[in-house]
Amino acid sequence: QELKLSLEQIEKGGYEHFMLKEIFEQPKSVHDTMRGRLLVEEGIIKMAGIFDHLERFNNAGRIIIIACGTSWHAGLIGEYLIEEFARVNVEVEYASEFRYRNPIITEKDVVIAISQSGETADTMAALKLAKEKGAFIYGICNVVDSSIARITDAGSYTHAGPEIGVASTKAFTAQLTVLSLIALKLGKHNGALSNSEFMSLITELDLLPKKIEEALQSTHDITKEIAKDFVETQNFLYLGRGYNFPSALEGALKLKEISYIHAEGYPAAEMKHGPIALIDENMPIVIIAPKKGHYDKLVSNVQEIKARKGKVIAVVNKGDQQVSAMADYVIEIPETSECFSPIIAAIPLQLLAYYIAVYRGANVDQPRNLAKSVTVE
Ligand code: G6P
Repeated sequence: QELKLSLEQIEKGGYEHFMLKEIFEQPKSVHDTMRGRLLVEEGIIKMAGIFDHLERFNNAGRIIIIACGTSWHAGLIGEYLIEEFARVNVEVEYASEFRYRNPIITEKDVVIAISQSGETADTMAALKLAKEKGAFIYGICNVVDSSIARITDAGSYTHAGPEIGVASTKAFTAQLTVLSLIALKLGKHNGALSNSEFMSLITELDLLPKKIEEALQSTHDITKEIAKDFVETQNFLYLGRGYNFPSALEGALKLKEISYIHAEGYPAAEMKHGPIALIDENMPIVIIAPKKGHYDKLVSNVQEIKARKGKVIAVVNKGDQQVSAMADYVIEIPETSECFSPIIAAIPLQLLAYYIAVYRGANVDQPRNLAKSVTVE
């Protein structure tokens, strides 16, 4: 027993939980995901899985992304990335819905499954269905040689390293990194992206590990402090727009999973179609409002929230003025391109969920009723 305990402590590398260790590993894991692929000086992205099947991708009528949980949230951001940069039609589906609804799949479709474990039963079944119908199936998995990695025609590993905490953190940012690489590579090869756009985007992508490190430094203490004020809270709202709408969903999921606080993510503009009815002085609202990406609209959302006395926790860029002036709590992250901002915004959202859960005495690494990989229906 003692030996087991100390082994676990060694594995945690001085961190109290695997989740915190994995959050702090993200500068390295994102770097590892890009290593050997993103060659900025040569101006190329090397990904054999895509390059060897470029024709399949270029001729695809559409790309369907299937996944569950956090991986599904990464898929939603993947849709924004691929549609914006490669101009290919993308649909994102929950694997569990896709497999049971007799979906229309043709031989021209490319189906991408995203799965940290590579073992999720619904994702696996949905892929098998797509394969039977003749679609080209592609995997984005973290676990090498996992079931999904084995049945797909091709794929790209995320290379985030083993993720032990049940709530996914570094696998999520690695998935976003792979999806960014895929979107940019497809756009470069099919001509949707000009060379100069491509170059400026990959230059920014290359800076992400450093910016994640900065985000960890700038948000760690403040999220820890803010968390103390919300230990007794029963509900949370998370709002974001564009690329950060899925960030809001993921932020809310992290909080639910480990702290057992009810949390909902919404596109900020949908607030007026329902959630606004819930806002009063007891409702904390996390709003993700980086400078690039509908900032003015988010300013109005914050005004609407403050008019109803909601408590605003704002994730903004360094030096932000307008939102910060109205917010009750301000969390500053470094600025990046809008399309990569979910990778940076994920950091404080993970930390906030983590510290609220820790203060509530929850079992952060193994939350009740949840499993790391769901291999049965
Ligand atoms: C479980 C895990 C989640 C994960 C989801 C999908 O619910 O607790 O963290 O996002 O499964 O798992 P996958 O391995 O397919 O990404």
